[in-house]
Amino acid sequence: MNDTHLIPLPRLQAAMHLVVRGFGSSADEVAAVAGNLIEANLTGHDSHGIGMLPRYADAFLQGGLQPNAAVSTELDAGALLRLNGNRGFGQVIGAQAMALGIERAKALGTCVVALGNSHHLGRIGAWAEQAAAAGLVSMHFVNVISRGIVAPFGGADARFGTNPFCAGVPLTGRPPVILDFATSMIAQGKTRVAMNKGELVDDGCLIDDHGRPTREPRFTVVPPFGALLTFGGHKGFGLAMMCELLGGALAAGMTQRDADASQRRVLNGMFSVLVDPAALADRAGFEGEALAFIDWVRASPPREGFDGVLIAGEPERAHRARRTVEGVPVDATTWQEILDAATKLGVDAAAVQATALGG
Ligand SMILES: NC(=O)c1ccc[n+]([C@@H]2O[C@H](COP(=O)([O-])OP(=O)(O)OC[C@H]3O[C@@H](n4cnc5c(N)ncnc54)[C@H](O)[C@@H]3O)[C@@H](O)[C@H]2O)c1
Repeated sequence: MNDTHLIPLPRLQAAMHLVVRGFGSSADEVAAVAGNLIEANLTGHDSHGIGMLPRYADAFLQGGLQPNAAVSTELDAGALLRLNGNRGFGQVIGAQAMALGIERAKALGTCVVALGNSHHLGRIGAWAEQAAAAGLVSMHFVNVISRGIVAPFGGADARFGTNPFCAGVPLTGRPPVILDFATSMIAQGKTRVAMNKGELVDDGCLIDDHGRPTREPRFTVVPPFGALLTFGGHKGFGLAMMCELLGGALAAGMTQRDADASQRRVLNGMFSVLVDPAALADRAGFEGEALAFIDWVRASPPREGFDGVLIAGEPERAHRARRTVEGVPVDATTWQEILDAATKLGVDAAAVQATALGG
């Protein structure tokens, strides 16, 4: 274990703005990238928060991440949009892609957005939240172009990424239901965070470089590499395959198969389907039924060892409420990596440190 800094939100925001400026980003991009990463920390997903900045810095310095890029449209066929992210910050590209899809789904009732060549899209739930805020149902199948890190069910080595799946359902007057997870047992970033904290991961998440079960997070972080396992055995594997076939082969025109492992950039392909529930069904009827079902499920008595039933999206909102007030915990190793990244980007690390931690 090592020390953890508890950084007040305004200080963390100011400090991360300093770091992201090191990419040469416009003021809007700085706000989008820092804001999205901090939001991942606030919602409890440290794996996709500010701890990604060192990786982004390496990717940028290798030329694999292009600051100030924007989405370009490769195909506009009404309810079908094919977009190129031009290797821009996923925090910007994802928002732009969703804005285009939302506009189209509002007009036509639905839109399929095929996004390729985006740099890391971060927490995919952010894109379902954007759609839900516009009143749209959405689902997102995402592949990852990076070093392979997850083994297929029955296989002994890594063949694809942590391919997240996400779906969101808006509910008038209530927060949306946002289901958002990696198809691996745990997100890759969580093994990095565990290694940085000196912790072991749970049983059943990892295999070592010989395909044997292990709890050592290092087997997905430093060589020799093992692999993460998919959640739910063959079922999670099947969903991961769909993320690769839809987010990768169909949306991005590129699967993880031939990814160059020496590259630090992380590209995502995303196949998103947006639907306006009011165009498909009676909105009040749909929402009434959905809310009644949620209440019915939530009324299940707590099982031993549980506090009761949670609905997807609730853990993130609880984290956000708490961390917004208490501050964001950042372990000392991750913090030092961020300071080192700042230095690589030509940013005064001492100023970042002072802004975040005072003194
Ligand atoms: N961009 C990428 O390449 C990439 C790759 C993998 C993962 N990710 C992101 O990583 C993040 C973390 O993924 P993860 O797999 O660690 O998430 P996770 O295992 O924490 O699961 C999160 C999901 O489960 C729900 N949930 C959590 N506890 C629950 C409970 N007790 N009852 C009911 N629902 C519950 C949450 O609301 C959320 O929808 C996600 O935001 C994902 O999009 C991104």
